Amino acid sequence: MSDTIHPPSAEFAENAHIDAARYRALYDASLRDPEAFWQEHGQRIDWIKPFTKVKDVNFDLGNVSIKWFEDGTLNVAANCIDRHLASRGDQTAIIWEPDSPDEEALHISYRELHARTCKMANALKELGVTRGDRVVLYMPMIPEAAYAMLACARIGAIHSVVFGGFSSDALAARVNGSEAKVVVTADEAPRGGRNTPLKTNADKALDGVSHDCKLLVVQRTGGDIPMQEGRDHWLHDLEAKVADDCPPEEMNAEDPLFILYTSGSTGAPKGVVHTSGGYLTWASMTHELVFDYHDGDIYWCTADVGWVTGHSYIVYGPLANGATTLMFEGVPTYPDASRFWQVCEKHKVNQFYTAPTAIRALMGKGREFVDRCDLSSLKLLGTVGEPINPEAWNWYNDVVGQGRCPIVDTWWQTETGGHLMTPLPGATATKPGSCTTPFFGVEPVVLDAQSGEEITSTEAEGVLCIKSSWPGQMRSVWGDHERFEKTYFSDYKGYYFTGDGCRRDKDGYYWITGRVDDVINVSGHRMGTAEVESALVAHPKVSEAAVVGYPHDVKGQGIYCYVTLMAGEEYTDDLRKELRDWVRKEIGPIASPDLIQWAPGLPKTRSGKIMRRILRKIAEDDFGSLGDTSTLAEPAVVDDLIENRMNRS
Ligand code: WT7
Repeated sequence: MSDTIHPPSAEFAENAHIDAARYRALYDASLRDPEAFWQEHGQRIDWIKPFTKVKDVNFDLGNVSIKWFEDGTLNVAANCIDRHLASRGDQTAIIWEPDSPDEEALHISYRELHARTCKMANALKELGVTRGDRVVLYMPMIPEAAYAMLACARIGAIHSVVFGGFSSDALAARVNGSEAKVVVTADEAPRGGRNTPLKTNADKALDGVSHDCKLLVVQRTGGDIPMQEGRDHWLHDLEAKVADDCPPEEMNAEDPLFILYTSGSTGAPKGVVHTSGGYLTWASMTHELVFDYHDGDIYWCTADVGWVTGHSYIVYGPLANGATTLMFEGVPTYPDASRFWQVCEKHKVNQFYTAPTAIRALMGKGREFVDRCDLSSLKLLGTVGEPINPEAWNWYNDVVGQGRCPIVDTWWQTETGGHLMTPLPGATATKPGSCTTPFFGVEPVVLDAQSGEEITSTEAEGVLCIKSSWPGQMRSVWGDHERFEKTYFSDYKGYYFTGDGCRRDKDGYYWITGRVDDVINVSGHRMGTAEVESALVAHPKVSEAAVVGYPHDVKGQGIYCYVTLMAGEEYTDDLRKELRDWVRKEIGPIASPDLIQWAPGLPKTRSGKIMRRILRKIAEDDFGSLGDTSTLAEPAVVDDLIENRMNRS
């Protein structure tokens, strides 16, 4: 960790929405009188019927309930599109940069966004989708992904985006879990010069879905795709039939806007539910202030719409603010490691937001890939997804930002809807590796992990909880409110538990130290170790598996699997490969094991519980401090694992 301090430049602070004095004043006001603060800032979005009640929140286990602006009505798509038509109908809403630099980029105006969203909304209606229905989106990074999200919002349907890199099994689980009426997909998804067969994957997924579910297919590549009569529909065929205009539905502030499945420490991924009014207020306010977005700026977030970052900071936040948001279909290293910077140069990007894993990967390729591009348009850089190591931070600052661009290290989660702790670029002095201080209305607390007591001294280390609600907070787990309460409100009573550990330094700055639960962070993507384990044990030759994270130079954390085979099975390299392919098929390439260690025995307590703490230490090659192993049923297992640890690959 580094204690170098980078204060905002006077020039940046002068032109910024928020400077240091204003941050302090507004932050204090937001905690002193949240009702008044949010009464005012809730007005940044357009209400059909204004709210009279600001918030109604209860964090007590058994009665957890979170409502913001609850008697207001609005339409999220109208906020992201219609309200801009009079003032900026011809302004570019979305710049789309395709996978291949040889294909032409698109500039989609707000007027065109309106037309395309209405068409897509009417196509969904044609397939029988109405208010409250769920629609799963399994899409490439193409403008139609944004149209589909906004089309759902327009007609009051709830979307659930499934990352295009997930397998058909993972897709099926999410279609079943949300009982979706329609899956919107595309023929194929080009990425890094290769095409992922999305429609074929969707076909396989629907084999595992028992309820009636239709497919709406966008033509992206024109690849040869079989269509199932009655079930599958080309978007362009339906659009030719339906009306051009689609009036937005009047929705309640607390009507669900979307479900997004995310991994937890136990069980299958849970459907995080976000609602309309509070979420949009939060996404739009954080987008404007954290990126210091000004009218006319070109803003680029490199995430995929399959993750919450894509929801809040490619689609909803920027579009609610009438911004120009860039959407990139490809990968940072195709055709070569210069691509991000070429896109910045080509479209004169002003704010650039990416993940530490991408920065580390590109840093490894050498600075010449950056230096050959003109990055003079850049004003601000952002990171998200995992802690950034100071070395990567400094490279980002010096080589990409040329020492000129403030860096916002934004800490947040799928559950939080948007940034909770982050620098404000004109206000906050940054320290490489720290997400610095809370956004307006956010009250972070550090608790002692064992006692659950709040540590009140400025310097503190423990688990990170949030003391009171903010408008963008998730409201429930889809179909399982009890799981919502249990996951986030049962370990530390009266607080929202983030699952992260953290340290607060002498200046009150926060440093996230990583997850304290069985969740690992692989390339900024959250992975439940239990999910990978259950995929492994589903293989007929595997009897037991234990999965932990270990430090990985580029990915942050890698996936380390200890595997025990069924009696009589042979431990071979071929089987290792087979298991990797198996996990990719069960979950998707992002869950692909980095290291598999054969483990004829696993360290267990006498009651049969696997001691992961020990497995984590062995994976980290840190066996000097294994801690107490006296409760192990068979202590010799540990020595075997240490001795055979080189038997991993
Ligand atoms: C977890 C949430 C938020 C969108 C992307 C990931 C880690 C996220 C940071 C950061 C340190 C971070 C935390 C968090 N995380 N941002 N700036 N510094 N850690 O969303 O999949 O919901 O994962 O990512 O551990 O709990 P997610």
